[in-house]
Amino acid sequence: MHFTHVLLGLVASASAIDVYFHNSGDCSGAASVCTGINPNVCCTGNSPTVAYRGIPTNWHINAQGFSNGGCGSPKWLADVNGQNWVCMTVNSRPNYTGSYYWFVSRKRAEDTSCTESVKPDTLVLADGVTKYDIVGLDDAKVDELLAIAGTGVGPEAMPQELHARRK
Ligand SMILES: *[C@@H]1O[C@H](CO)[C@@H](O)[C@H](O)[C@H]1NC(C)=O
Repeated sequence: MHFTHVLLGLVASASAIDVYFHNSGDCSGAASVCTGINPNVCCTGNSPTVAYRGIPTNWHINAQGFSNGGCGSPKWLADVNGQNWVCMTVNSRPNYTGSYYWFVSRKRAEDTSCTESVKPDTLVLADGVTKYDIVGLDDAKVDELLAIAGTGVGPEAMPQELHARRK
């Protein structure tokens, strides 16, 4: 048994999942993103749809979306087994305000709890490729930037102050 390899593989790919709070009704367009989020960590945001991208296809996870502030009230549960992404769509509940995932296990009790909460570290424009580091910006500033990005503009329309934060 190459147990060490399995473990290393898990650790390496554990940093792969990105959670996108999309400013649209269909998991497209601009988003605030928690990059490389670990299991059982709540990524917070405020948007109509949430996408998980970069999920290792050999993983079986449950991803839960919440409304009513952070990981407050369950809104959507996605069972992901073999897909590299999933879109949590609009339903009758208010915007998504948080989301986390956990590993589904048949062998042991599942840890479906959320241990901590983190804010998105990245802003992605509607082109899907222009990314900015938003770590340390206050919430009002992030909301303002998201509102601009949400109109679908390119990098030239973003405030000058953001240019130095381009990834
Ligand atoms: C829901 O999300 C959209 C897009 O991020 C935002 O414009 C809107 O204000 C949010 N609605 C509420 C009630 O917060």
